[in-house]
Amino acid sequence: MFGYAALVCLAAVLFWLDPILRVVAPSVLLDAPVLRKTPRPPINEALLALEDNDSSLTCPDDAYTVHIFSKAPLVLYVENFLSLDERRHLIEISTPIYEASTVTHDGGGTVQRNATVRDSEVAVVPRDNVVRCIEARARRLQGWRDDLWIERLRVQRYQAPSGHYSYHYDWSRSGAATGGWGRVSSLMVFVDDGELDESAGGRDASPLKGGGTAFPRLPRRSTDARWCKVIGCPDGTKETDDGVNSDGAVYASTDNPTGVVFQPVVGNAVFWENFRPDGTGRAYEETWHAGLRVRQGVKVGLNIWSWGRVD
Ligand SMILES: *[C@@H]1O[C@H](CO)[C@@H](O)[C@H](O)[C@H]1NC(C)=O
Ligand SMILES: *[C@@H]1O[C@H](CO)[C@@H](O)[C@H](O)[C@H]1NC(C)=O
Repeated sequence: MFGYAALVCLAAVLFWLDPILRVVAPSVLLDAPVLRKTPRPPINEALLALEDNDSSLTCPDDAYTVHIFSKAPLVLYVENFLSLDERRHLIEISTPIYEASTVTHDGGGTVQRNATVRDSEVAVVPRDNVVRCIEARARRLQGWRDDLWIERLRVQRYQAPSGHYSYHYDWSRSGAATGGWGRVSSLMVFVDDGELDESAGGRDASPLKGGGTAFPRLPRRSTDARWCKVIGCPDGTKETDDGVNSDGAVYASTDNPTGVVFQPVVGNAVFWENFRPDGTGRAYEETWHAGLRVRQGVKVGLNIWSWGRVD
């Protein structure tokens, strides 16, 4: 009898304690691990594009338009992030300095080339004025967030018949595992489809086929046909994964609204947040993505990653 009363008491205490604790001390609850915040690691100036606040730098006004694709994770579709002149300039400065892209298997320690995983060439572009204006635009888009640094800009070239980047996350370890620091956001810009980089023989002779960016786990919230030109349509009027990279990928249809392939529309960009802003340091599984195989022609992209404090 006493045991029963004690159990009822305990249940009542737990019942009332839980919502109170959630308000006053969420960290006490086991289901809400709180990110242990550590001091910032040293800034690596070779990898990050530090803002120099050069008042003589004059940049063109932003000309882009933003559409929210998803709220959680935050995914933005950005039209006209780069102008034609900027795209042309990026091709010019990248072409002489491309190197084979590498992958990391242990969260950044060692890098190696593995064309099964990633088959592309990369150029870490010099920080001239055009590039610094693009960096500034990426900071502005993110509201000059505290404790956020833009990584050095990387131009990536994917050529037919094998250029691709298999499914991956842009973060390698959770925010909790790194003490609250990591690659917090990704901005992936489509720079060229062979109009400017003629390495595949020019756009007319060899138009780009394939090369979309697939997010098989990302829910699609809109069925509006105005998205068709950038993400393809459920009726398959745009190209999707041709099977070469299909590690379980599924694509949006009327029955299954999960999965999307952003088509390589030049000048446009996709921005996404990698970590949940709930103080746990957990990343979003929905950001798993691939650069689909370029089946014909050439695709050039620009990666603007941001490193900083995980919320
Ligand atoms: C430039 O300004 C930002 C924001 O005020 C500041 O964090 C940064 O340290 C400045 N950089 C230099 C080199 O002064
Ligand atoms: C390249 O990656 C694939 C897939 O992860 C793996 O099976 C293969 O062993 C890797 N090759 C090398 C040389 O590491």
